[in-house]
Amino acid sequence: MKFFLDTGNVEEVRRAAALGVLDGVTTNPSLLAKEGKPFREALVEMCGLVEVVNGEVVATDAEGMIAEGRELASIHPNIVVKIPMMPEGFKAIRVLRSEGIRINVTLVFSPAQALLVAKAGAYFVSPFLGRLDDIASDGMKLLGEIIEVYRQYSFETQVLAASLRHSMHVVEAAKLGADIATMPYKVFEQLFKHPLTDRGLEAFLQDWEKARAVLGDILAPEAVKSKK
Ligand code: G3P
Repeated sequence: MKFFLDTGNVEEVRRAAALGVLDGVTTNPSLLAKEGKPFREALVEMCGLVEVVNGEVVATDAEGMIAEGRELASIHPNIVVKIPMMPEGFKAIRVLRSEGIRINVTLVFSPAQALLVAKAGAYFVSPFLGRLDDIASDGMKLLGEIIEVYRQYSFETQVLAASLRHSMHVVEAAKLGADIATMPYKVFEQLFKHPLTDRGLEAFLQDWEKARAVLGDILAPEAVKSKK
């Protein structure tokens, strides 16, 4: 499973990329607007850090989406263009795909929409799981259905589980076989956490300190020498 960060914040991408387990970034207009940094600059910097950066169009007519999609794709070869799930978007996908531009169809909330996305040959489909949970619907059920439908036909569109709100969302998405999980930085950090890890490390270090007072530090060069 690939991990993407769902953020408009370049520093978060830098911090996560330094850990060696980050594959890409998804942005959206809301996330980028929150950061107050020129969009192009933020996207260029992110492209220097990870191999895939999703940038979204804001036009709602096909012509506008095509123009914005071309503009976004020209920023860097790592850019994937996000197009909202709507008929005008599909007209844009047809044109942009013929130019070799990779597309992520976003705001997907049903298996029927996801089926259309695959037929259109999008690179990614982005079902928003958390937002379905928010309205007392079942985001994970949708993800499972999309994966089931895609497997029937070996569609090449990759399933990108989006709107993930906590680490169990990531684990459940992995169990269902989602190709990618995109998550806020906070959720990425949660994946590392376990109270038993913290407690175990604390005990190791305390025991080490106690023993070191008597035995010396076996990792110190002098201690290694004296053992020879
Ligand atoms: O990138 C889109 C998506 O992940 C949004 O998540 O938490 O605003 O529903 P959220």
